[in-house]
Amino acid sequence: MKGVILAGGLGSRLFPLTGVTNKHLLPVWDKPMIYYPIQCLVNAGIEDILLVTGGNSAGDFLKLLGNGKAFGLKHLNYTYQEGEGGIAEALGLAEHWADRESICVVLGDNIIETNIQKAVSDFRASDGGAKIILKEVHDPERFGVAELDGDKVVSIEEKPKAPKSNLAVIGIYMYDGNVFEIIKTLRPSDRGELEITDVNNAYIERGTMSYEVLDGWWTDAGTFESLHRASNMVHEGGANKL
Ligand code: DAU
Repeated sequence: MKGVILAGGLGSRLFPLTGVTNKHLLPVWDKPMIYYPIQCLVNAGIEDILLVTGGNSAGDFLKLLGNGKAFGLKHLNYTYQEGEGGIAEALGLAEHWADRESICVVLGDNIIETNIQKAVSDFRASDGGAKIILKEVHDPERFGVAELDGDKVVSIEEKPKAPKSNLAVIGIYMYDGNVFEIIKTLRPSDRGELEITDVNNAYIERGTMSYEVLDGWWTDAGTFESLHRASNMVHEGGANKL
């Protein structure tokens, strides 16, 4: 299984911090934000990793990370997203590299406390399809929100005004090789982006979506509040055994 980290986009919600640098290079406690998703994949045993960068200072990722020595890696792969056409657009850039293997995708601004190794090995042992990871939150309207019926995900709504549950879809997704065909069928949403939620709903319609609920804390770091919270959580609780 290969790993893809999406660190494109312009980080406009963090302006002026992102005026001259990339959101994923900003500090979260004592490390650059991008360290956490990389460590998340490495901890799960995934060492063949593609980093999709974009926006400002893309070259600084290479300066900072090189071939991934700080994570015990021998090699890191990079690609570049122009503009911010959405998470699914950024993922589409991984098609050639993924070469129909299954992938674990981590958003560059997502940080978790625990190890997702079990979810990854369950997915590896399954018949493919897709797997999402859910976490109970108090502000679901900020995220993709899952509606469950027993052990099935029935639908996901992106930033709903009236959420059907308090289960946010966190930014860690597992997909089989069909994901790139699905991405090609997408149309931009009202915010002008190819949405990862539309990809996930396509798997739900095919009946091949599974889910797990995450143990331990999770946060994104793409707003001033969540960036601040992320630093505090890492400081107080540690993340990914970094
Ligand atoms: O954090 C989890 C949430 O992430 C999910 O619950 C939502 O369903 C999902 O849409 C996403 O929501 P956001 O609106 O918070 O995503 P954001 O635009 O902040 O992008 C998150 C990361 O995805 C960002 O740090 C880098 C990557 N990205 C994003 C865009 C828009 C790209 O690589 N390229 C892009 O064009």
